[in-house]
Amino acid sequence: MSLTEEIKKRRTFAIIAHPDAGKTTLTEKLLLFGGAIQTAGAVKSNKIDTATKSDWMEIEKQRGISVATSVMGFEYKDIKINLLDTPGHQDFAEDTYRTLTAVDSVIMVIDCVKGVEIQTEKLMEVCRMRNTPVICFINKLDREGRDPYDLLDEVEEKLNIKVRPLSWPIGMGKGFKGVYNLYEKSLNLFTPSQRKLSDDRQKFANLEDPELDKLIGPNNANQLREDVDLIEGVYPEFDVKDYLEGKIAPVFFGSAVNNFGVNEMLDTFIQIAPAPKSRETDLREVTPDEKKFSGFVFKIHANMDPNHRNRIAFLRICSGTFERNKPYNHVRGPKPLRFSNVTQFMAQEKEIIDEAFPGDIVGLYDTGNLKIGDTLTEGENMVFTGIPSFSPEIFREVINKDAMKTKQLEKGLKQLMEEGVAQLFTFDMGSRKVVGTVGQLQFEVIQFRLKNEYNATVEFHPMNLYKACWITSKDKKQLDEFVRSKSRYIARDKDDKLVFMAESRSWLQMVQDNYPEIEFHFTSEF
Ligand code: G4P
Repeated sequence: MSLTEEIKKRRTFAIIAHPDAGKTTLTEKLLLFGGAIQTAGAVKSNKIDTATKSDWMEIEKQRGISVATSVMGFEYKDIKINLLDTPGHQDFAEDTYRTLTAVDSVIMVIDCVKGVEIQTEKLMEVCRMRNTPVICFINKLDREGRDPYDLLDEVEEKLNIKVRPLSWPIGMGKGFKGVYNLYEKSLNLFTPSQRKLSDDRQKFANLEDPELDKLIGPNNANQLREDVDLIEGVYPEFDVKDYLEGKIAPVFFGSAVNNFGVNEMLDTFIQIAPAPKSRETDLREVTPDEKKFSGFVFKIHANMDPNHRNRIAFLRICSGTFERNKPYNHVRGPKPLRFSNVTQFMAQEKEIIDEAFPGDIVGLYDTGNLKIGDTLTEGENMVFTGIPSFSPEIFREVINKDAMKTKQLEKGLKQLMEEGVAQLFTFDMGSRKVVGTVGQLQFEVIQFRLKNEYNATVEFHPMNLYKACWITSKDKKQLDEFVRSKSRYIARDKDDKLVFMAESRSWLQMVQDNYPEIEFHFTSEF
């Protein structure tokens, strides 16, 4: 198969959702449809139950599950689908953001009872930054949920994206009868079942057909006719181009746990979702069909086996053909790297492969050379952009409790930061080390893993910090002057970039006003 054909048949995406909306369930059903798994229950939830959050075995177990489910590849109707997993706990949101840099589109699951929840809003913001195409799946229609029109309004309002229903529910909860597929003009009737995979879609190009009354009852039939009229009147015709540009989100209704509405969404997904797209580097745009290979690392899993300091780096292939054992340019590093152990993830199985194509994610066994954000190429010295660190929200000072283990602590911290568990900032004054995270849980994870994997003991002391802002200026003199006058608040990130540690929002605002020639950035990429 030619490179162009390989690219055309790939769809790389992630499912995102607020916890409990049904991400794991939907993932499992997609794998069942794709024939990648045979039984329900095979996909383990990667949720960390907050009730058991001090149970470290639980976190370690979840880390194990995360490796197994990081990428789930399967074939469906001749399309190679790469489904990337995102963490179930919001404290690991940064990990999700990074995973979203490696996909070409997303499916967003929304619970019809709860509507748009906070985590969904945050994730949507990240999608918007990259204009990632989004399909919405409104789930749990077998429950008494909110009015579908209200839900659509809420999605538009809270997620700030236009929507276009492509299916429409008939009833809800106990009265849920099925969905009408507006895209294919077919009716799919609901029978609660967690096993049944085939669906019985009937074409209904003409809703006036009296057969409809017989199937769903005259009241439902009339309601559906009214709804469809209204939708066709209110919403503009669905334009795939708008979806691909991230301007409009097609919406499907269904019930993942009952396998209902999933098939229809999947069929539409493979038709409309984008194949691997071009990507920006600091030098130029890279198109997937370029002959020469390029890719970037978006995730690292380390120390799964405490006896070996092994790590798996997850590489997204952006162009060309990636080959096992071929030396590649590690753009940030001192020497070329070659990989003999290249894994691809098919459903729950790992297999060693010899080559991979744009859109694919491969796992590279690495002994410590790779970092998140690293680019590999077939020679060119370019770096993929759009994999930023965001300013953390919680900051704590690292206190070493065992001076004999300082080296181990430094090494452990460095490696955990390379894995992207959190961000480390070192103050210029006194070299105080501060860890910044988006969630409370990471501090406990870091403390536990430092002890367990590096034999280092730390405590974390709360710090009164609001944001870490990366600072730059066109005027070097002004920047030097700023660094001198604010030296107490100046730190360096892992790449030695200058960071201003602001104590409060109002104070930051004041400093920004007083120093108009200094630029303050809230992500590490600018
Ligand atoms: P998540 O990964 O997004 O966090 O959600 P997950 O799939 O684990 O689903 C959360 C809960 O919602 C699960 O129930 C799941 O069974 C249920 N669920 C998923 N889809 C549907 C649906 O279409 N209808 C209804 N009624 N429920 C649905 P649980 O009680 O937490 O777990 P379980 O014991 O049922 O597995």
